[in-house]
Amino acid sequence: MQELAGKVVVITGASSGFGRGAAMKFAGAGANVVAASRRKRVLKELERQCKDLEGRIVVVETDVSQQKDVEKLCSKALSEFGRIDIWINNAGVGTVGHFEEVPLQEHEQVIRTNLLGTVYGSYFALREFRQRGKGILINMSSFAGKIGSPYLSSYSASKFGVRGLDMALRQELEQNDEVGIHVCTVMPASFDTPFFEHSGSHLGKEVQPIPPVYDPQKVINTIFELAQDPRDEVAVGTMGKVGSAQYRLAPKLTEKIMGKNTHRSQMKAASARNSSGSVFEPMSSGTDVYGGWRESNGVAKTAAKVLGIAAPAALAVVLLARKRWQDDRELSRVA
Ligand SMILES: NC(=O)c1ccc[n+]([C@@H]2O[C@H](COP(=O)([O-])OP(=O)(O)OC[C@H]3O[C@@H](n4cnc5c(N)ncnc54)[C@H](OP(=O)(O)O)[C@@H]3O)[C@@H](O)[C@H]2O)c1
Repeated sequence: MQELAGKVVVITGASSGFGRGAAMKFAGAGANVVAASRRKRVLKELERQCKDLEGRIVVVETDVSQQKDVEKLCSKALSEFGRIDIWINNAGVGTVGHFEEVPLQEHEQVIRTNLLGTVYGSYFALREFRQRGKGILINMSSFAGKIGSPYLSSYSASKFGVRGLDMALRQELEQNDEVGIHVCTVMPASFDTPFFEHSGSHLGKEVQPIPPVYDPQKVINTIFELAQDPRDEVAVGTMGKVGSAQYRLAPKLTEKIMGKNTHRSQMKAASARNSSGSVFEPMSSGTDVYGGWRESNGVAKTAAKVLGIAAPAALAVVLLARKRWQDDRELSRVA
């Protein structure tokens, strides 16, 4: 476990949701935080909110889909603090709709922000880490980067891309014995942040999280733990953990259940006008860690949570038992 006081931590997407919560948590632990996003005014509020905490916070207006902005972010962190210990590529946007009904430019911007933004951040961070022989890179993927999600095509593609990038980087570091440098991938399920309010919407429906919806503090705590004790890939939220285990055992069936669940949930959402959300331009709303989804419709959400966990868990147990039975039968045949 490494001590975080005095460490230099760069976080993208720090104006709301996981990034905002993580920036506050790192500053509270005495780290020097370089917080980036497009909304300078919201970042300035974060700076004020953190002024009495132990660590220092510097805010940098950054559009991660622009390579030169990310390079400037890296230079700013180095000029302020002289080094970078931890770099977190968290900024991200999504857009929901039938693949060919979402404007192509919107798909492109999702890929540019989530995947290219992560490539740029990883590039400048690793260049620094390699010079010092140490550092921790934490990249934000998603459960949608493990199992493709209907109506989230470019988002899923970008998050699969982040996982692929991280796997390749880990191999490269291992082959070159760069043991002091770590690449971690975070794969959250559904969490209560402003992400859904910020998402593009082309289904004529309000974008909403697929239940069960978890407290974002779980992801913030995971990021915080990885910065002290790095691991390769971490699924966050019981649904994501169970779903990943289930997918290993029965990929087709799991895809079917997840796909149906997502379809049903999106189609029954309230009607809404189509919009590009914050994909191209940041929105003035949604500046908190929380998105307000868990408070709304509490009973239904609790029921969905119980069902959402119990059903896949029961299925996983049945599948495991079936696999064990098949393995035993195979073994007795060989014997
Ligand atoms: N919430 C979930 O259920 C969930 C699940 C799985 C994965 N994730 C991932 O978690 C990450 C954080 O999302 P969140 O849930 O915390 O939602 P959020 O509150 O909407 O946060 C997204 C952050 O990304 C920033 N951002 C968006 N486009 C940007 C750009 N071009 N350049 C710089 N910053 C940009 C936003 O700030 P500005 O608008 O100020 O730029 C905001 O700070 C995303 O990568 C998302 O895909 C979320």
